[in-house]
Amino acid sequence: MSSESKRKILVTSALPYANGPIHLGHVLEAIQTDIYVRYQKSLGNECYFFCADDTHGTPIMLAARKEGISPEELIDRVRAEHYRDLSGFLVEYDNYYTTNSEENRILSEEIYLSLKGKGHIAEREIEQAYCDTDKMFLPDRFIKGTCPNCGTQDQYGDSCENCGATYSPKDLKDSHCSLCGNPPVSRNSKHIFFKLGDFESYLSDWVEKGSHVAEGVRKKLKEWFEAGLQDWDISRDGPYFGFKIPGEIEKYFYVWLDAPIGYMASSLNYFKGDRKKFDSFWKDKKTEISHFIGKDILYFHTLFWPATLEGGGYRSPTQVHVHGFITVNGEKMSKSRGTFIKAEGYLKHLDPEHLRFYLAGKLGPGMDDLDLSFDDYTAKVNSDFVGNFVNLVSRVATSILDKLDRTLGTPDAEGKKILDELRSSESKIREWYETRNYTRVMKECSRLGDIANKYVNDLAPWIQIKSDAEAARKTVTVALNAARILSIYLYPVLPRSGEKVYQILGLNKKPEFADLSSDLEKTKVSAYEMITKRVEEKSIQAMLEENTLETKSAQPTTTTPAAAPKTEGVLEISIEDLSKVDLRVGKIIEAGPVEGADKLVQVKLDLGSLGTKNVFAGIKASYQPQDLLGLTIVAVANLKPRKMKFGVSEAMLLASGEGESLSLFVPHRAANPGDKLK
Ligand code: MSP
Ligand code: ZN
Repeated sequence: MSSESKRKILVTSALPYANGPIHLGHVLEAIQTDIYVRYQKSLGNECYFFCADDTHGTPIMLAARKEGISPEELIDRVRAEHYRDLSGFLVEYDNYYTTNSEENRILSEEIYLSLKGKGHIAEREIEQAYCDTDKMFLPDRFIKGTCPNCGTQDQYGDSCENCGATYSPKDLKDSHCSLCGNPPVSRNSKHIFFKLGDFESYLSDWVEKGSHVAEGVRKKLKEWFEAGLQDWDISRDGPYFGFKIPGEIEKYFYVWLDAPIGYMASSLNYFKGDRKKFDSFWKDKKTEISHFIGKDILYFHTLFWPATLEGGGYRSPTQVHVHGFITVNGEKMSKSRGTFIKAEGYLKHLDPEHLRFYLAGKLGPGMDDLDLSFDDYTAKVNSDFVGNFVNLVSRVATSILDKLDRTLGTPDAEGKKILDELRSSESKIREWYETRNYTRVMKECSRLGDIANKYVNDLAPWIQIKSDAEAARKTVTVALNAARILSIYLYPVLPRSGEKVYQILGLNKKPEFADLSSDLEKTKVSAYEMITKRVEEKSIQAMLEENTLETKSAQPTTTTPAAAPKTEGVLEISIEDLSKVDLRVGKIIEAGPVEGADKLVQVKLDLGSLGTKNVFAGIKASYQPQDLLGLTIVAVANLKPRKMKFGVSEAMLLASGEGESLSLFVPHRAANPGDKLK
């Protein structure tokens, strides 16, 4: 490829918040982006993949306070974890930086001052909830109270989880600070606004002209234009973990102002402060800038962000690709349902390339949600990845090749035809990678794999070898060349397997599209090495089980504000809170193991007047089912039923300790099933 035709492309994934672990939603995005980047690199384009942790804001400040460490310590630790998890999925960043960097502070200040200089900044007093005890303004999520619509208690300041109503925190009944429990007061403060409306025609041009966004996104944006572009509040009062706004006292940039600038900072850090190189991307439209994001942050990336860039003297993005949300076995990822799967948990039990393979098969150019069904995952990986692609190599690269001195020959005319057919898909496959239509790529590769496998089946080299070694050599040569072509096509999705196939073929390099131009002939092939294993049902079970147990016992999520440790880390609750928990004496009338779950026991509880309830309890390490039969214990009887992999759990047994030393709570004297605890 001549250097003339080389494209320069800067690619980003959205920056994960530093207040929670990497989960499969982040992984989906990282994989989608990584496939695009690896594809561009395998064409020889100058492509960079930049990301970072999004580190600013109130939740992070408070999470650090709760742990008794500085926000800097917290975000350093989390960034290392995030990077470890994302890399675990073979996602290869050129730089994974942080928004709490000097580069980002400087760029954010510059851009803000440029916006201000051009008259795009306004100031206005706003009225906001303030906690006199905690001495801070309270973001909506830190105010709790009773929903004004349906009367459900303990709802967030912006929306009700029960009825779905959205409202202003002022409308909440008996609203209180979620940190200290005191009612907030109303206080005025000057805020700084970005006049988004100034950019209306610029933005509508950007949206309408060229293919910066997909059709579905354009539609959504039209609605927003029709509703009118509102000024955007970009300031927060201290205490706040973020960058101070120049020229103001105790005012900070709202996290969403400096977060996308974090893309730029990550690149500037990678370019070692070289502003010329930096500008060649961020100011020069001959290069490309592609952002990959989820649909929930569309507004920020297609309105605020291009306007911020324009006002700051930079170019607008070439493309903003928007994907949908991942669901697990048909349900939204949710901690209480055990469908919130952390990257770390997946990696402990399952192969990262299996997820890359499965998700690529489901990812199209649109923003539809996409379901990770583990039955489907097992079927697809085992039949299309292992049974098709891997099989093409493993069936010929072991004993047959040993009998052929592990040396390839040349394909005959029929074999050449097969290889040419595989090669003829190149332009389609490239087009589909370019337009993020990975589903089509994967379907095409399966089709090509079928063609190659059928060729091998028809000629049966394991029979040929007995009578005509040279015929077998031709067949094997064609099969392995077909596998090599597929390794090139699939390399963006399956970098590890692609490289392994190359290694087996004696090629000491990464697969790239330029390799398609020739066949591999008359060379020695290395020993076969395992490429990937089939998915085992029990690994999935183990992961899901561990996940359920972990999230069940987990602290409140770090995204929801936790109570401040006013009394040495002990959360105080009122007597009313206590009365919500229905503690009862229960008698275990059935107990048995759970197929495929090492840590669980299934019990049936007799709760007297409340009837019987089914419970899955993670107590197998210290109790065998037969020890439990007839035991009288203490249970939370009014726990909302939770659907688990193995069935519905309707109550919770009380216990202390962990693992082998776990101990169930039993009444000290005779007690009857259904007795209420006082
Ligand atoms: N910090 C902001 C992004 C700032 S970008 C300048 C943020 N962080 S996030 O951690 O909440 O989300 C990061 C990315 O993960 C977003 O693109 C988001 O859409 C994506 N996902 C989060 N949950 C998801 C799913 N369940 N499914 C797919 N993607 C999802 O937003
Ligand atoms: Zn408070």
